[in-house]
Amino acid sequence: MRLKITGLNPLSGLVKIGGAKNAALKVMAASLLAGGSCRLMGIPKITDVNTMADVLRGLGATVDFQQDSSILIDPSGVNKLEPPEESVIKMRASIQVMGPLLARFGYVRTRQPGGCDIGPRPIDLHLKGFSALGAEIKKEHGYISAKASKLKGTEILLDVPSVGATENIMTAACLAEGITVLRNAAREPEIIDEQNFLNRLGANIKGAGTDTIKIEGVRELKATEYTIIPDRIEAATFMLAIAVAGGEALIENVIVEHQQALIAKLRETGMELIEGDNYVIVGRPVEKRLKATNIRTLPYPGFPTDVQPQFVAAMSLAEGTSEIIEGVFPLRFKYTEELTRMGAKATVDGKLAIITGVPGLHGIKLEAPDLRGGAALVLAALAGEGVTELKGLKHIDRGYEDLPGKLRLLGASIERTGIRKELQAG
Ligand code: EPZ
Repeated sequence: MRLKITGLNPLSGLVKIGGAKNAALKVMAASLLAGGSCRLMGIPKITDVNTMADVLRGLGATVDFQQDSSILIDPSGVNKLEPPEESVIKMRASIQVMGPLLARFGYVRTRQPGGCDIGPRPIDLHLKGFSALGAEIKKEHGYISAKASKLKGTEILLDVPSVGATENIMTAACLAEGITVLRNAAREPEIIDEQNFLNRLGANIKGAGTDTIKIEGVRELKATEYTIIPDRIEAATFMLAIAVAGGEALIENVIVEHQQALIAKLRETGMELIEGDNYVIVGRPVEKRLKATNIRTLPYPGFPTDVQPQFVAAMSLAEGTSEIIEGVFPLRFKYTEELTRMGAKATVDGKLAIITGVPGLHGIKLEAPDLRGGAALVLAALAGEGVTELKGLKHIDRGYEDLPGKLRLLGASIERTGIRKELQAG
């Protein structure tokens, strides 16, 4: 499967944002703590969700996808304490089941998750938190185990405000004896969402969204229903699609508060934006070129690293030179090699990329290196003269519910091609 994109079509219309990938995956993992079956709503139809469902099933839980984009998860049948190896390799977020399994069963074992195209992905801070709570950590032959008869609340300070470590420690501490105070915690909105879900189960957590989270252990948790927040990275991707292709769109189901870093930067480039209560309207007249501006990606509420590639696609066509400092994943510029082949002027030196805007790009055959880099190449192809053929669609489908289909509804000329012969024959 690949994407065929014919560029230079300005976009216009309305697009509805789906549930947040990086909230859904964590709440799915946290549902292992529930005392019964949980219904989760607003779950995006993306392959990472399917992978997380496979992880939970591999542990013995049941996961049923319902017609209405909700899923039912019943953890009562959990009889394995090791996530399936192939899922851990495929998706790093599989390790988010460690906290819940350790909390509920006192043991978890997993393969060390691999790095990926955006750089090394250590889990030392996750393990430091588990150990501080009283777990015995063992590492042998590429596997890691954590064991504890009873976790005890304590004070933990994170060296780096890691999103995953914050979430894994938060879930591990839910059933611990006493109070855990987590300092230098990550402040991402998805962590607030997970806190809200856990408190609906009966946990006692305060402070998510700030750098200090307090978790008072409880004896057991019950079941609940929960609706996931909208995906701030998908919303940002569509705002930048308009920046690149020109035109205007109303992007709805947006928590505008989550977009403040990007909105401020887009205003610096000359984009027109109207902030509604649960939508944004973005516009760029086709004949108006954006002005270059600089960004440095940081943990929330700084400029999100997951929006850096898509922003660079927009800056590759801006007037002037942009300095992009990648402050979270230093190797997250791989996609710029393909962008350069389209005619962009980008030089990368470690965590710094210098982008000199060009008046236009040309469509060519491309390969997506990873999820957000792939999204950036799709956006760039919207402004490419001629036809772009993009391979590596599996990366994009991991984190976006039908990005091509939603762009087509906005007027883009974009379609999936190369459907496997046997499927066409059928
Ligand atoms: C989450 O990854 C997101 N993934 C990422 O989104 C996002 O880019 C990242 O947070 C930062 O916002 C999910 O939520 C599934 P981190 P995570 O732990 O938790 C270092 C996407 O495109 N670190 O906050 O893995 C690490 O090396 C994905 O949707 C340690 O040193 O990110 C990195 O430099 C990509 N030790 C920094 O912290 C640790 O134990 C931030 O990583 C853990 C992390």
